[in-house]
This record gives sequence, structure tokens and C-alpha cells, in this order.
Amino acid sequence: MWSNASVRQPSLEALVAQLSTAGFVAAREEAAELLAAAGDDAERLAFMVRRRLTGEPLAWITGQTVFCGIAVQVDAGVYVPRWQSEPLARRAVDLLPPGGVGVDLCTGSGAIARTMAWHRPDARVVASDADPRAVACARANGVEAYLGDLFAPLPAALAGRVDVVAGVPPYVPTPALPLLPRDTLAHEAKLAYDGGPDGCDILRRALAGAPRFLRPGGAIVLELGGDQAAALAGDLAGHGYVDITVLADEEGDARGLEATFAGGPPEAAGMRDH
Ligand SMILES: C[S@@+](CC[C@H](N)C(=O)[O-])C[C@H]1O[C@@H](n2cnc3c(N)ncnc32)[C@H](O)[C@@H]1O
Repeated sequence: MWSNASVRQPSLEALVAQLSTAGFVAAREEAAELLAAAGDDAERLAFMVRRRLTGEPLAWITGQTVFCGIAVQVDAGVYVPRWQSEPLARRAVDLLPPGGVGVDLCTGSGAIARTMAWHRPDARVVASDADPRAVACARANGVEAYLGDLFAPLPAALAGRVDVVAGVPPYVPTPALPLLPRDTLAHEAKLAYDGGPDGCDILRRALAGAPRFLRPGGAIVLELGGDQAAALAGDLAGHGYVDITVLADEEGDARGLEATFAGGPPEAAGMRDH
């Protein structure tokens, strides 16, 4: 009892001022979230604020974020879903018919899979991630998540039956990792960002692996950046994709690609996998 009395709950305005002074641009929103998450517990709030001042992601501290209007649990250590990925998630929903099958590669907290399942409750949505913390978090969000590399851990029975493969894989070129915002790699895992020398390593392997699972006419939507869509043109053609669209944001910057799997004999798709 005495310990609680020793810490006074700051007002919203005092907390906004503290976060603003420390350079947080969304200080008011963050202060409100921290106050709500701490409830009446002043000591808990003080601890949460101290963590935030180190640059630790807000979602790890409050334990959740909102993605596509849906609350998502985000455990410490798991990539925090970004609003920039919401258009890709919505596109994946559009491409997933009721009762269909969707895959979310590199699912992290499971935010994209959860969005697909939320809007298509009759569909089967499966997901994978190479990080056990992410898989546990995705499962806590109700996602059928599997631990392992890309398609490797997914149920083999889904081969040739998938309507849409979605993914936000790591796609930052290794040489550009030091250019990420200061707090990013101080807290978040390199595994979530590092896409190899040109950023396309995982994207290429996703394009190569998807034909085994996609039905003919099924689609793949992947987040990427810069000129990576052009760099992947040969992979797209070589693995039998058609109707390739580069998805751009409001500034006209490439943010993703969408392609349709034209189909082909399963053995050919299997060969493409290697
Ligand atoms: C950029 S995060 C995206 C997470 C989630 N899709 C989202 O948008 O919030 C990339 C995720 O890919 C996972 N990952 C990295 N390499 C992987 C691989 N080879 N197979 C499966 N998951 C991988 C990381 O653990 C991380 O959770």
C-alpha cells in the first residue's frame, strides 16, 4: 500500500509534455494509450513510461496495437505491424473468396492472417514464421500458425488449393540496415528486416515456393520497396506468374507486388521450387 502512495499518477497533459520533450511525435496519442494500459496503477505507468523513453516499441509495452481496425496482441520481441502494410492486408482479403484458403507468410504477430480470417470467417487461413516468439503470438491472436521457413511447415494437404498467398517478408537490403531509424534494430530482431544483399532473398524464395500451394488463378501479394519489383521480373516470369501489378502508395512509391499464378503441371511447379 505504502509503495503505491509514493508514486503520483501524472495528468495526461504532464505525460504529453514529457513524451513531447523526449521527441515523440505522437505524444498525445501515446500518452493516452499508456494511461489506458496502466489503469490506476501509478507505479506501473511510471515503469511503462521509462520503457518507452528507451525507445522500446509502444505496442510491446501496452501489449497490443490496432491493425486494419482490429485489435492485435503484440508480444515483446515480435515485429509490430505497421499501418503501411494495411492496404496489402485489405488486398489479400479481396483476393480470398468466402470458404477459400489463404496463407500469410512471415506472419509476425499474425496481424495479416487475423485480418483475412476476420473478414472471411469461413475461409481457412494458415501462417508461418521462423521465430518461435512470433508463432506463439500469432497463435494467441487466434491464427493457425506454424513454425519454420516460409512454406516448409505448412500442411502439405493445402498444396494446389490456396487462393491467396500474402506476406510482409524481410526486404531491407543488408547494406541498408544501418539506415533504419535508430530505435528499430536497437529493439527489434534483424530477422524481421534483413532481406539479404539486395533485399530480395526471401521475396525470391516466396515466389519460388508459392506455385506448389497456389491453385491456378490464385494470387500472391508481397510487400517490398524501391525497385525490387523490377529486380524480381525474371523470377515472376520464370515461375509462371502473370498479370503482375506493382502496388504503389499515395506518394507513388512501390510498396508491393501482386501477381497471378497461371498454373502448370504440379511436377513443373515442384521443379520451380528448387
Ligand atoms: C517484417 S516482419 C512482418 C510481420 C508481419 N507480417 C507484419 O506485417 O506485422 C517479417 C517477419 O518474417 C519473419 N521471418 C524472417 N525470415 C523468415 C523465414 N525465412 N520464414 C518465415 N518467417 C520469416 C520474421 O520472424 C518476422 O516476424
